[in-house]
Parts: sequence; C-alpha cells; structure tokens
Amino acid sequence: MANNEDQFKKVISHAKEYGYIFGSSEIYDGLSAVYDYAQNGVELKKNIREYWWKSMVYMHQNIVGLDAAILMHPTTWKASGHVDAFSDPLIDNKDSKKRYRADVLIEDHAEKLENKAQKEITKAKKRFADAFNETEFVSTNARVIGYREKKAQILSSMARLLEAEDLSGVKALIEELGIVCPVSGSKNWTDVKQFNLMFGTKLGASAETATDLYLRPETAQGIFVNFLNVQKTGRMRIPFGIAQTGKAFRNEIVARQFIFRMREFEQMEMQFFVRPGQEMKWYDYWKQTRLKWHHSLGLGPDNYRFHDHEKLAHYANAATDIEFKFPFGFKELEGIHSRTDFDLKAHETHSGKKLQFFDPELKESYTPYVVETSIGLDRMFLAVFSNSLQEETLEDGSTRTVLRLPAILAPIKIAVFPLIKRDGLPELAKQITEDLQWDYNVFYDEKDAVGKRYRRQDANGTPFCITVDHQTLEDKTVTIRHRDTMEQQRIAISEISGVVAKSLSMKHWLQ
Ligand code: GAP
Repeated sequence: MANNEDQFKKVISHAKEYGYIFGSSEIYDGLSAVYDYAQNGVELKKNIREYWWKSMVYMHQNIVGLDAAILMHPTTWKASGHVDAFSDPLIDNKDSKKRYRADVLIEDHAEKLENKAQKEITKAKKRFADAFNETEFVSTNARVIGYREKKAQILSSMARLLEAEDLSGVKALIEELGIVCPVSGSKNWTDVKQFNLMFGTKLGASAETATDLYLRPETAQGIFVNFLNVQKTGRMRIPFGIAQTGKAFRNEIVARQFIFRMREFEQMEMQFFVRPGQEMKWYDYWKQTRLKWHHSLGLGPDNYRFHDHEKLAHYANAATDIEFKFPFGFKELEGIHSRTDFDLKAHETHSGKKLQFFDPELKESYTPYVVETSIGLDRMFLAVFSNSLQEETLEDGSTRTVLRLPAILAPIKIAVFPLIKRDGLPELAKQITEDLQWDYNVFYDEKDAVGKRYRRQDANGTPFCITVDHQTLEDKTVTIRHRDTMEQQRIAISEISGVVAKSLSMKHWLQ
C-alpha cells in the first residue's frame, strides 16, 4: 500500500463495500461523525463486545454486569463534574474558518518531534544492522535526546496551562511553537475558548414543565449511582467490579478520522472498587491485564504502547492510555484511570445517600476507591479492521485483498459452496450449512466460479470456506480452505466442526 493515508482511505471504502459501516442517513447526505453498522459490521462489533464481556465478567468471579439507562437524573452530571468541567479548549483559524482542539494541535506538533526521533533510530538501525543497541542509542544520541526533551517540555507546558485554565497561555504556546492551520497554512488564530461536550435534551411533554437532561457522555456514572444496589443485592465484597457496555454521546469539536472520534459511540467500561490505599496495586494489575487482552488477539505487540497522562482529569490520581497504531499513527484506544473516591463521594454529597462499604475484615466502613478500564468499542473495531485489511501478492504474481480478522471476531465463520449449481451439490451444501449454523454464523453461496467466491470471502474476513463437489456425493468428504494460508484440506463432513472448533473458541484465544 502506497502510504498510510491511502491505506486509511482503503479501510473506509472497504468497510462500506463489504457491508461493515455506512455513514448515517446517507440518503440525506449523512450526519457528520455518526455511523451505522451494516450486516457484517454489526456482527464484528457484537463479537468484540462479547470477547470483552466474557474476559471481564465471566472470567472474573468478582465482576458482574450492568445495563444502566442512557438518560439519568440531571444532578448526576453536576456531581460527576461534567457540567462544569467536561469541555475541550477550542480554537478557530480565522482564514480557513476551521475549528480545532487547541490541545490536539499542540500534541500533534509534539508528536512530530517524536517522529523525528524515530527517523534517527530507523537510520541508525540500518547503519549498524545487527550491532545496533537501541537502548544505548536512544540514551546517548544527542538528536534523539534533544527531540524527546523538547517534546516533553511542550507537553508539560501545555498540561500546566490547562491545569491552571490559562487559555490565553495556551494560545500563546500555539503562537510560540509557530503552529499553522493544516488547511490555510496561516497562524491567524482566534482566542481559545472552553466548549462543553455534552448533548442536552428534554424530558416532558410541555416546554414549561420539561426537565433538562443530558445524553450520557460516559457509561461510568450509571455504574457509580448503582454501586450500592449491586453491592448489596449481589453480596459483593471489595475488591469487586461492575462492567457495562453501551452508547455514549459527545458533541466533539473536531470529529474526524472515520469511526475514531464519533458523536454517538459505544463504550465498554469496568469500574473496580478497592480499598483506599490499594488503588495503585490494582491500577498496575488492570494495566497489565488489559494489555494482555489486546495482545491475545494477535494484532502484533508492537502496535500497542502505554501513554501515561501528564494532565490528569478532575477525578484521577493516575491515568494511562493504551495507544494503538492506527493508519494515522499511535492514538488512544483505551483509558485506564485511578479515579480515587471522587465519584462516589460526589454522589454522596449531591444525593445525601451514603455510598459506602462495610469491610468485615477491617470492621469499618469506607468510600471505596475506583480503578476504571474504559475502551471505545468503535475504536476497537477500527483497530481490528484496519490492522486486518491487507493486500497480498501471491506466488503467481496476482494480488488478493484479504481481511485477516482474528477468527474469533469474524462476522461469518464459515462459507459453504456447492462447486456447481446442479447434480445435487446445492442440496448437500445447504444441509451442511443448516447443520453448522446451530453453532456458527454460516453463509451459503452458489454464485460465480468457486475461485471468485473464495476471493469474496477472503475480502470479507471469513476464516473458513467449505466446498462440496462430486466426490462429496461418493465419500462424504469436502474441501476446507483456510483464509490466511489458502491451504486446502480434504476432510470428512463429520470432521468440519472439529477442524474449526479451536480457531473459533474463546478459550483458545483468551488463554
Ligand atoms: N469513563 C471514562 C471515559 O469516558 P475517556 O478517555 O473519555 O474516558 C474512554 O473515554 C474511551 O472511549 C476512549 O479511550 C475511547 O476509546 C472511547 N471514546 C471516547 N470518545 C470517543 C469518541 N468521540 N468516539 C469514539 N470513541 C470514543
């Protein structure tokens, strides 16, 4: 593929062409940063959700699930700090009239310095070949050290300014760094302003009696307000967790990059309630556990990195992002936050209800601390999908497009084809389909030559194809073709389930 931008365009068009993602209300020219999941997309998304849910809820005896409503009492958002502090600093370029997040402009500028450092490392790697020692090189090379120091300096200045809510200082930093608008190329910036990201709505029939509500900007608060309900009815003892998946809404200032930053999206969050003072132990535990979960899918360990936060959110005493190498570079995929007792205490204050736990070992009540893991389902979708889409040159010089989705996540697990549309082959192929569909999402296809059908399923991400031919009528064997290797095996119909079972078992992947 020519470059990352081309690769990303290819990802977007492939997602549409193969029925994964459509723009919302396309017939009306769409709605910015809102997307619909199509026939294959909905399956991939469901499978990712299930992979997360099973690993969090079923594999941990002390984690249970919840499905709280999207609409919540408006005081929730006052207590959580979202009414006062859930805003992004925005800045407009007066020439292009384009709007940006001021912190993102600065972060992108700082990232360019990291890219320069990476270029030095790549050059040295080539020059010194096997003798190259990266650890030594990055700690002694003046250029790499210089770039990284400058980057750190910029990010900590920005964090300081944002912490102090010094918006004119943020603008001055943008000017000092000489940051230009990517569209107009000019430095003609407006002042920086804060912009609240929550969507407002109304509950009630008449304008006079209606109550102002918000669409939830995170699922987490549904967990906090139910903390005591779940703890008591589930007889949960600390440490324990509550997991939830569901929609969240943010009126993002700059919504770009396809499903990376949406205005309506889905989160998979887990709040883990711990004894005060033990939160850092659990924070480290969840950092490692979540990274292991990502690695289990085989997208390549080098595609992930931690990014510890310089500027902490109003509720956190430690926070990190698991970043993934998207086609447009390393970006946040999941956040792990040590949220202290901020949320439970705030809800206690605003509701007047005690949200505490009586610890039978310590024989005392306390407000638990919380470690949160929070991943965007749509972002995870993009990570998996973009990483899996590959263009391959085969031995005979021809090319094939293959979507190497982890088999456990693939929308269609098995495609079944009769070699031709007569001689009883379709009937037999349909019978095999009907048997397999009790356990798997199976697709029957008899259109076009079989080679073309294989290619279609490769591009669709289907890990296995079964072909029924004349020999099947004689000896009840079929050909099974593996998407990734294109290897074909002759096996008995009765063996199909056994052959595919391991690749399609959650246990195999999660272990
Ligand atoms: N409860 C904590 C919380 O919401 P966050 O870092 O704001 O933390 C968590 O969001 C995750 O949700 C992010 O890591 C990202 O994967 C996803 N996310 C956030 N905003 C998003 C958006 N506008 N579009 C898609 N995913 C988003």
